[in-house]
Amino acid sequence: MRLGVFGTGYAGLVTSVGLAELGHAVTAIDKDPDIVARLADGRPTFHEPGLQELLTSNLQAGRLRFTTRAEEATAAADIIFLCVGTPPRADGRADLYQVEEVARTIAPLLDGYKLVVEKSTVPARTAYWIDWTIRRLAGREREFDVASNPEFLREGSAVRDFLAPARIVIGADTGRARSLLLDLYQRSFDCPIVVTSVTTAELIKQTANAFLATKISFINLVADLCEELGVDVTTVARGVGLDPRVGSDFLRAGLGFGGSCLPKDLSALIRVAEDKGVDIGMLRAVEHINSARVDRLLAKVERALWVVRHKVVAVLGVAFKPDTDDIRGAPSLGVIPRLHEAGAILRVYDPAAMPRLKTLHPPDDRLTYVESAIEAVRGAHALVVLTDWEEFRSLDLGRVRSLMRTPIIVDGRNLFEPAQMQVAGFEYYSLGRGEVAPRAEPQRERV
Ligand SMILES: NC(=O)c1ccc[n+]([C@@H]2O[C@H](COP(=O)([O-])OP(=O)(O)OC[C@H]3O[C@@H](n4cnc5c(N)ncnc54)[C@H](O)[C@@H]3O)[C@@H](O)[C@H]2O)c1
Repeated sequence: MRLGVFGTGYAGLVTSVGLAELGHAVTAIDKDPDIVARLADGRPTFHEPGLQELLTSNLQAGRLRFTTRAEEATAAADIIFLCVGTPPRADGRADLYQVEEVARTIAPLLDGYKLVVEKSTVPARTAYWIDWTIRRLAGREREFDVASNPEFLREGSAVRDFLAPARIVIGADTGRARSLLLDLYQRSFDCPIVVTSVTTAELIKQTANAFLATKISFINLVADLCEELGVDVTTVARGVGLDPRVGSDFLRAGLGFGGSCLPKDLSALIRVAEDKGVDIGMLRAVEHINSARVDRLLAKVERALWVVRHKVVAVLGVAFKPDTDDIRGAPSLGVIPRLHEAGAILRVYDPAAMPRLKTLHPPDDRLTYVESAIEAVRGAHALVVLTDWEEFRSLDLGRVRSLMRTPIIVDGRNLFEPAQMQVAGFEYYSLGRGEVAPRAEPQRERV
């Protein structure tokens, strides 16, 4: 098929190379000429395992091309996918200006039947507004449908997720739209395909992310309780997650959820529900628990160091999760400025995401970006883990300990085992598990 993709960010680029890999002719449009120039040159604009290979091979095969000219993709496509951003507005609602912009752009360009498909995550009934916008601006009667085909890929394993999806959701209100999308996917995938109305498909995506966020906040709530009871949350999560009705995914206690999807999709769903007068207090609690995670970690740093000012703190990980360079919504964006404000001297390392953080927080006399984890811990009073990159798990702990001024680790991702840390001679704080504090704790009064 001939496919057009609007937006070549994380979702759009993976969708474009993935669809090309399935054998389709894909024209991908971005309004940013720098992004288009890079991609046309075969250079990915972000870090994602497997992306470079697929980009190179599909460009070479002539199945994939990039342009800034909307008319090229619109004319050449049977199906037009919308993969533009839907960032949060200040009030928590999804900002749909990019979606509206694409609808306005393609309206006068439609010639012959086109299927316009939302892949961006949007609130229920957005398709109605896309349809309304195109009809209003098209000038004369155009033949088109608007459908929903939400994207479930996870950054860090996005290429794999696209090529081997757990399920595909198709929201279509006409037979023609339904059969075009079924035709696109059925010949390539044998996973379950949920075929439903457009509004249902829109709601499925937002609900899926709200549920994942709920699972994470739930286990983090249990983690706080575990700390009070002297119980290890990892074991509780294992005991609970082995029940197939619960499942063990997304039951890892830690710094909570971040990224460009879960926080914004959760708050957008809350707004949709509130606008409809539905009591959504439960999801408000999910948000609240998540936003308190950074405070909890910082309290542990302060407890370990007492005075933070002038202390050298090594920060490992700034990406919101491993295997990506995406820092949108990452806990590091809360932790690093607050430690900096408190007077700490920060030595920061991440295998992929440092260039992005540097643009937000340029280096200064108390903020240094270094080239390795070992370099970060040199002379540090404490090491703080914010992302569970695999390379941190396999650090030579003896070497780390010998390089640090005081062997203190505050682990926001429960990357290490407390028993392992005790043997290695660290003072060790994590979330929801026993602490390893070699020195006598000062007595605290309980109120
Ligand atoms: N990032 C993910 O892992 C992921 C996963 C599933 C779903 N989604 C959803 O996909 C959508 C896109 O997310 P993203 O992370 O890729 O966003 P992004 O901000 O990284 O990318 C959006 C891209 O669209 C381009 N763009 C904006 N307006 C345009 C226009 N009028 N014409 C052409 N290009 C235009 C921008 O220049 C940018 O490159 C969001 O709704 C998101 O919720 C994202």
